[in-house]
Amino acid sequence: MNDDPSEPVTGLTRGLTNYGDTDFARYLRLSMARSMGLSSDLLKKPVIGIATTYSEFNNCHRGVPDLVEAVKRGVLAAGGLPREFPTISLGEPFLNPTALFFRNLMAMDTEEMVRGQPMDAVVLVGGCDKTVPAQLMGALSANIPAIQVVTGPMSTGRWRGERLGACTDCRRFWAKFRAGEIDTETVEEIEGNLATTQGTCAVMGTASTMASLTEALGMMLPGTAAIPAVHADRLRAAEASGAAAMMLAAKRLTPRMIVTEKSVENALRVLLAIGGSTNAIIHLTAIAGRAGVKVDLQRLNTLSDETPVLVDLKPTGPFYMEDLHAAGGIGAVLRELKPMLHLDALTVTGETLGERLASEPGYVDRAVVKSREQPLQPVGGLVSLFGSLAPRGAILKRAAADPQLFEKEGRAVVFTSLEDLAARIDNPDLDVQADDFLVLQNAGPLSPSGMPEAGYLPIPSKLARAGVKDMVRISDARMSGTAYGTIVLHVTPEAAAGGPLALVRDGDRIRLSVSERRIDLLVEEAELMRRRQDRPDTSAQATRGYAKLYRDHVLQADEGCDLDFLRADPPE
Ligand code: FES
Ligand code: MG
Repeated sequence: MNDDPSEPVTGLTRGLTNYGDTDFARYLRLSMARSMGLSSDLLKKPVIGIATTYSEFNNCHRGVPDLVEAVKRGVLAAGGLPREFPTISLGEPFLNPTALFFRNLMAMDTEEMVRGQPMDAVVLVGGCDKTVPAQLMGALSANIPAIQVVTGPMSTGRWRGERLGACTDCRRFWAKFRAGEIDTETVEEIEGNLATTQGTCAVMGTASTMASLTEALGMMLPGTAAIPAVHADRLRAAEASGAAAMMLAAKRLTPRMIVTEKSVENALRVLLAIGGSTNAIIHLTAIAGRAGVKVDLQRLNTLSDETPVLVDLKPTGPFYMEDLHAAGGIGAVLRELKPMLHLDALTVTGETLGERLASEPGYVDRAVVKSREQPLQPVGGLVSLFGSLAPRGAILKRAAADPQLFEKEGRAVVFTSLEDLAARIDNPDLDVQADDFLVLQNAGPLSPSGMPEAGYLPIPSKLARAGVKDMVRISDARMSGTAYGTIVLHVTPEAAAGGPLALVRDGDRIRLSVSERRIDLLVEEAELMRRRQDRPDTSAQATRGYAKLYRDHVLQADEGCDLDFLRADPPE
């Protein structure tokens, strides 16, 4: 195995198969390569691997074959040999129990195939929520030169004069349906108009957030995060990424030279300024963890207090990703944040972030990207909360929450699992009022459900019908980046790991204080001790396969839910 980034560009003869005879291994490999119909000239070129994630179980990746063709054009024109290879693909709505469960498996697949096959650089083509994090995690661990291409966001659809985009509008109409405001026929008609093109969800959900953060990290070509999936520029970006991969190979510019403490902090700033998805905290923590960089939730709070919200896409505002692209894209956000960023961070172009920002055109549409002086909100979209209910932290997307609920004490209405939630939430006899706190236990990474996007607990239908739009909801689950509400997520340690969340009972008092960054369970320690002794083991049981590997090694949310043995040692 040859993963030494200081090795010269060796093309197809890099990392020869071990037959105990190096010359034979080279001879055999080249003979087999000849069977692919390639000229001997091409066989001598630097090799650019293209990790493709096309899958008919991944709607967001429908355009991947066209992107791969465009990457190949770029590689060939720059004098290299492109080699496409498949990896696992993760289509968010098609995976059970949840795509997050498979993210680390995909990261391992990507890492091993990038390292095990002969390539001088790799172009990672992906898009959906977990795919991009998995690719970056794998590429950082393999640490050969790498560049990310995303599939790009969907374009919006139209329905009765309204612009619709997955999947904030999916949730909006579903909430109306639950509240009895629209009927089955209408909701079915809307279903046909929510997701109408290839590409990732059209709003600032997790996929759009991760694309934006990848650009901020410097792992993607400037200006390419927000290009719509169906725009011809998307193909040009892919072609240019193929050419850039050739340059990366020649310079031996590796991902760990790009993903550093500084670029991770730049990405956190952008996450806060775009009101990005809560899931991105977990993914960025996992990505950074592969480079030995820690994302500290206390540090997140400091950054959040300094970083204004500049972009107002759905789920919080009126705009879609295609609008952000037309308004100047992530470049416009980065320029606005410039005084707060580490400008010496390297990017995949070989330039620093500062050089990038100094050289690009300054177009910005202020309707979509606000100025630092007149931001949408003076402080960042996400905060972490600590306290007796979440000793290692929890996340609240304050930008998507109702500030009237920020300083509040409430009575807990507890659901012990997703099944319990489904069985009882709409029961007319459920003892619940609008100012109660809904608590969901056993939906974290170690639970049988594998930390699904279930933190957006539905408002009990009797309250929804009475006009209640938001309630405090607390869980160890995640939430889709396209959702909104006063929702405390990623409570760590999770219930299935024996965290205090497991000890909450119906009727307990819980205090939320966003100003103090606290979430506390107001129950005597002696009583908690008693409950702790009676606590059943609710963690997932697995005896074989990936489920066992995951079960035995998955880390908590504050460590990015990576597998413990895959993280890098911190830099000395
Ligand atoms: Fe892939 Fe939303 S389902 S981005
Ligand atoms: Mg999503």
